[in-house]
Amino acid sequence: MRITNEKNDIEYVLFSEETIRARVAELGKQLTEMYKDSEPIMVCILKGASIFYTDLCRQMKTQIHMDFMVVSSYGNETQSSGAVRLIKDLDNTIIDRDVVIVEDIIDSGLTLKYLKEILLSRKPRSVRTVCLLDKYECHPSEIGCDISGFSINNAFVVGYGLDYADYYRNLPYIGVLKKEVYSEE
Ligand code: IMP
Repeated sequence: MRITNEKNDIEYVLFSEETIRARVAELGKQLTEMYKDSEPIMVCILKGASIFYTDLCRQMKTQIHMDFMVVSSYGNETQSSGAVRLIKDLDNTIIDRDVVIVEDIIDSGLTLKYLKEILLSRKPRSVRTVCLLDKYECHPSEIGCDISGFSINNAFVVGYGLDYADYYRNLPYIGVLKKEVYSEE
C-alpha cells in the first residue's frame, strides 16, 4: 500500500461535486414523492454511505426517521470477501414500517442481499434499497438495488464517503484510485 497524498493517488475524477449534488437532489425528489405519506425509516450503512446519506436525507422534503447500521465487508482489500459481519444493529424496531436502506456502492451485491434478508425477517411493511453507485457488471441483476445514482464500470473508486483502508472518505468528489496505491510492487 503506497498512500502518498490524496490528489496524487487519484487516477481521474469520475463524478464531480456538482454532478453528485445534482443527482442526489434528483434522488431526494424521487424519494420524497414515493414516501410522502409514510414517514420511512432511512437506514444508513456506515461508514461508506455516511456522506451520501446525510445529503440525501436533507433533500427529502417529508418526515423521515434516521437509523444506522455498521457492517464490515472489506478490510484493506479491494475485492469483496463475501463475508459480511453485522457490527451495529438498528436502534429501533421496523415492524410495519417502510424501510429504505441507503448504501454507498453495490459491487458483488452480497452486502445488500444480506442486509435486506435481515431486515425483511423483522416484518417491515416494505424494504427498498438505494445505492449511490452501481457496479452493474459485478453482480447478477436480481440482486441489484431498487434505485441507484450512477452505474459505473468495475473500477475501484474513493471519495464522498468511499474509502480505501479508511483513507479518502472526505474527498468531495468520487475518483478512481490509482492501481499502484493498492497493488503490491
Ligand atoms: P459488495 O458486498 O461486494 O456489494 O460490496 C459492497 C461494499 O464494498 C460497499 O458498501 C463498500 O464498502 C465496498 N466497496 C465495493 N466497491 C468499492 C469501491 O470501488 N470503493 C470503495 N468501497 C467499495
